[in-house]
Amino acid sequence: MARPRHAAPPAPETPAQVLAELLAVQRGRFAALDPRLPEAAAPPPGDIVVVGTPPHRVAGVITHHSWPAGSGPLLWSAAQVSELHPVVGAAGHAPLHALVEAWRGRMLPAVLREPDSAATVTWPSRDVVATRVFLDHGLVPLAVLAVRPPGAVASPPPDAGLEIRRADDGDVDACVRLALEELAYSSQVGGSVVRADAEAVKRTVIRDRLGRGEPTWIALRRGRAVGMMECGRAESTPGTWLAGLLPEGAWGYVNCASVTAAERGSGVGHQLLAAALPELDAATSDVPPRGTYLYYNPPNPLSSVFWPRAGYRPLWTLWEVRPAGGLRGL
Ligand SMILES: CC(C)(COP(=O)(O)OP(=O)(O)OC[C@H]1O[C@@H](n2cnc3c(N)ncnc32)[C@H](O)[C@@H]1OP(=O)(O)O)[C@@H](O)C(=O)NCCC(=O)NCCS
Repeated sequence: MARPRHAAPPAPETPAQVLAELLAVQRGRFAALDPRLPEAAAPPPGDIVVVGTPPHRVAGVITHHSWPAGSGPLLWSAAQVSELHPVVGAAGHAPLHALVEAWRGRMLPAVLREPDSAATVTWPSRDVVATRVFLDHGLVPLAVLAVRPPGAVASPPPDAGLEIRRADDGDVDACVRLALEELAYSSQVGGSVVRADAEAVKRTVIRDRLGRGEPTWIALRRGRAVGMMECGRAESTPGTWLAGLLPEGAWGYVNCASVTAAERGSGVGHQLLAAALPELDAATSDVPPRGTYLYYNPPNPLSSVFWPRAGYRPLWTLWEVRPAGGLRGL
């Protein structure tokens, strides 16, 4: 009798295959969660972690980034950042907990020793299953990326004493002063950090932005600048970093909004936005419509009210623990 032929056992899947399978399922998860999300993107290259076995298997990629002294991002980020990019398919609480535990286990000792460090993960704001898990591990919803479809804002009440105009090269000093006021405020209610070189860094960035003609609006009362809205345009094209966050197309964004302390709550911000949005919206894709985006800190009692009232709503939440060693187990 012929020996039965046994099929060779299937070759074990590679971590890259596991990521690809889970990513396909994750696309369905994102689409069901929020119609304004882009298709779930492949994670960047990094340390691949696979946890558990099917049907509860999840994966992720851990990346590590150090910002050099004097760089702009150090004004809103820790110097050493460990970031988790989850690829979890349709997983529920338990596998997600296991993934965060695995991330803790893989954190570089140099990052764990560094006080100026953070553990971060960016995830769809509407995924409340993940919200529970991130909160349980000590992650804080420090910022959101919020979006707004094109369209006019409600007209602000008239303010005859206020002049709104585009900023130009002669406004660098005023814009730096207002940007530093915003930084000081935001450092109390979010991830911003007032570093020793903050003024020099802001000055360089603002001078370059104005020099490139990026749109910034300032509000003046009796000739003194009392508010600023620094804006720009961004293109989400396949394969770029932005394509992981926003559907393909041309977008406008608000980079920094600042109203001097004595003028807050009196309509200056509303006036600035009413002046800026028509121009920003006009340069965005209209089929399908895109609009504008920005980041704000949910713990900021001013911006967390101001932006949603103007029509912005969270798309992504930026979860963070500082220092990174604060990421806790269950
Ligand atoms: C956030 C900030 C720019 C807003 O500017 P502002 O001049 O204080 O805001 P306004 O006076 O125009 O808005 C005040 C009110 O109008 C409302 N409003 C503003 N735009 C509106 C709109 N388009 N539709 C409806 N309501 C609106 C606001 O929600 C707010 O209502 P409230 O008084 O009931 O709270 C300003 O407070 C600020 O600089 N804060 C400190 C720094 C900061 O947080 N920057 C933002 C970082 S993302």
